[in-house]
Amino acid sequence: MIAVACDHGGYVLKKEILKHLEERGLEYKDFGCDSEEAVDYPIYARKVTTAIKSGECDRGILICGTGIGISIAANKVKGIRAALCTDCFTAEATRQHNDANILALGGRVVGPGLALKIVDTFLDTPFSNAERHKRRIDLIEQE
Ligand code: RB5
Repeated sequence: MIAVACDHGGYVLKKEILKHLEERGLEYKDFGCDSEEAVDYPIYARKVTTAIKSGECDRGILICGTGIGISIAANKVKGIRAALCTDCFTAEATRQHNDANILALGGRVVGPGLALKIVDTFLDTPFSNAERHKRRIDLIEQE
């Protein structure tokens, strides 16, 4: 199950992404927001990180205007590895190397065509399971 949320800056792109997930037959839960009316992105980041931490969802997609604020907020939560991606190379690498569990996108940065390719790359790329990457992730998780 994929948890998806956005702020007003990511609302238009989120609608494209949800349509795409439906076309792919992928299950998702939409945690808002529901319009282009201004909201506070940390609230929406927290909805998705909570869904992942509880096990309700295993991956997340967060979108704000730049993708920066919402990824900063998500990464405050232990166990969350949110990767802001603007291309398919980084989307693939962050799954393989960082086992990122949230993809962050900037709705004012990437167009829908590229964003959907980034989403597919992120969702379809497994973690490498290489010892060096596991060790580095463990180091991140240490206090
Ligand atoms: C909202 O105007 C904007 O600040 C927000 O979407 C995001 O880009 C913050 O990092």
